[in-house]
Amino acid sequence: MNETSAGAVKPPTVSRMADSLVGSEIIRMAWEINDLIKQGATIFNFTIGDFDPQIFPIPHELEERIVTALRQKHTNYPPANGIPELRRAVSFFLKQMAGITVHADDILITSGGRPAIYCIYISLLDPDDKVVFPVPSWNNNHYCHLARAVAVGVETKPENHFMPTAAELRPHLNDAAMVALCSPQNPTGTVFSEQGLRELCELILEENNRRAGVRKPLYLFYDQMYWALTYDGVRHYDPVSLYPELRPFTIYADGLSKVFAATGLRVGWAFGPRSIIEKMKSISSHIGAWAPKPEQVAAADFLQDNSAVSQFLTQFRQQLNQRLQHFYRGLMQMKDEGLPVNAIAPQAALYLTVQIDLRGRRTPEGRTLHTTADVTDYLLHQCGIALVPFYAFGASPESSWYRLSVGTCKLEEMDEALSRLRVGLSRLR
Ligand SMILES: Cc1ncc(COP(=O)(O)O)c(C=O)c1O
Repeated sequence: MNETSAGAVKPPTVSRMADSLVGSEIIRMAWEINDLIKQGATIFNFTIGDFDPQIFPIPHELEERIVTALRQKHTNYPPANGIPELRRAVSFFLKQMAGITVHADDILITSGGRPAIYCIYISLLDPDDKVVFPVPSWNNNHYCHLARAVAVGVETKPENHFMPTAAELRPHLNDAAMVALCSPQNPTGTVFSEQGLRELCELILEENNRRAGVRKPLYLFYDQMYWALTYDGVRHYDPVSLYPELRPFTIYADGLSKVFAATGLRVGWAFGPRSIIEKMKSISSHIGAWAPKPEQVAAADFLQDNSAVSQFLTQFRQQLNQRLQHFYRGLMQMKDEGLPVNAIAPQAALYLTVQIDLRGRRTPEGRTLHTTADVTDYLLHQCGIALVPFYAFGASPESSWYRLSVGTCKLEEMDEALSRLRVGLSRLR
């Protein structure tokens, strides 16, 4: 309880969980960026993990089908686990495009990936259960908080493309309830190699063999929201396809949002052991977290349209990769010129992992940049470039790495943004 100025104890007004929710650094940055834009500044805003629909519209065939579904009056409640046509279409799509085998009855349709993830957390975890996940990573800390679980973030390394290794996670598993992995990963845009994922899978199997049904299993939550967005021969791997023995312990989150630039449509899904999916279905239906019915009807049809899906994905990947590669090459050129930048070659998703280490440098105005927060501020205010520091995704505040998102990036603004960065870096001593 809080003390009032008069010394009396103030009763809590909300739950301890709600009271102690931490705000999002990305949202805080968004306010700051909007304020600068309102004051007339030109900001290249590469912070947003979303798409500008004017640049990246949803597939035309999906849009048409949504309009038709609405006109056909598909406007009542869908079944709690999603319409059977969509669950069958997701099963078909995953088999065709990713080689993943999942029965339609082991799929739960939700309103985007987030409710699927929330249902995974609260159906598997008891208060104070430990969840192990790499940092930087997207929102696991918040889901732990909502589930009253204990978050164990394990810092990953640039030499491993910020993907966790078995050696890094091993010391944390014996009393853990769940491991949360994501590939392609937000914020890094990097993926597990087959070998890297195999080693982690073996670790989880080993731990479950040790528990041998005596304790609650160690679950693996696998977020593959960006799986179809990989570039230049990079492949997506998933745990159950590599080790079918993992099936009883593995629950996936996935959806249309990122792969079809459809973040506002709110169609996502989870899949895993049927008994767990059944529990998640009950939770999801109490929240009312089903995907809108017109979108479900439309997506069911669209996902079976191989030619529309492939055509869309081919051009979408090409456009995202073109932007990522352009920034990557520009930054590597600056690095070769001796400027303090670095980047990891793009592999997937809409994110580039960029290092800008200006700590200890002085601005022409005589200000020393002491912390990564000072650097972020310099990039925003002096270069007009907004990037999200990895510490916003749970990495150490010392980390000098950033996420650059190309989801709202116009081709014609890339060179201007790079040149502003070059000028900004060259001014420092
Ligand atoms: C890794 C990852 N998983 C899941 C989601 C949630 O996606 P949705 O918009 O479908 O809720 C996001 C969104 O940014 C994400 O980055």
